[in-house]
Amino acid sequence: MFVVISTSLNPASRSRILAESAHERLQVQSGGKSRLIDLAATVLPFCDAGECYSDPKVAEVARAIDFAQGILIATPIYNYNVSSSAKLLVELTGKVWTDKVVGFLCAAGGNGSYMACMGLANSLMLDFRTLVLPKFVYATGDAFEGDCLGDTEVENRIHGLVEQLMAVSQATMPPDA
Ligand SMILES: Cc1cc2nc3c(=O)[nH]c(=O)nc-3n(C[C@H](O)[C@H](O)[C@H](O)COP(=O)(O)O)c2cc1C
Repeated sequence: MFVVISTSLNPASRSRILAESAHERLQVQSGGKSRLIDLAATVLPFCDAGECYSDPKVAEVARAIDFAQGILIATPIYNYNVSSSAKLLVELTGKVWTDKVVGFLCAAGGNGSYMACMGLANSLMLDFRTLVLPKFVYATGDAFEGDCLGDTEVENRIHGLVEQLMAVSQATMPPDA
């Protein structure tokens, strides 16, 4: 199973377009084994390190991640970082990321923030031994035409990320899974 998580809360989000495209590709390539979770629709509570963990939405998202072999995080770049909702997602779900394979799809305003997902990637790698795919998708406004992806290079990169996610997830899956 694969999960694609869209973490932009903007109704006109571009990273959601990347997430939808990756999800569609994963559905085709995996025979329907992909689930798309949109944090604009599945509203998570702030992390208070206590009560938040018993929120049913937190449990639902954590379960989906736990069951997945590979996860794609689609995120806007805000202030040279991933969205606060992408960080919140990891704060709330913690150890379910252990040994998972993770890829990033980023929508940004400019090319200068291309290292912005490294903070979250580092925390996933160091805290949970998550395997983060180094070749991620990074798209700026030029790659979109209205509410569609209009750039074949970005599209090919999404296909490449999906291919890698599937291959590495398969290769690292425990034998009894
Ligand atoms: C509060 C805020 C901060 C932003 N900071 C950055 C930034 O540091 N680097 C960058 O390249 N773009 C930045 N942008 C532009 C967004 O990354 C861009 O609009 C992107 O499309 C957002 O993703 P979304 O459409 O999925 O919400 C920022 C936008 C907002 C609203």
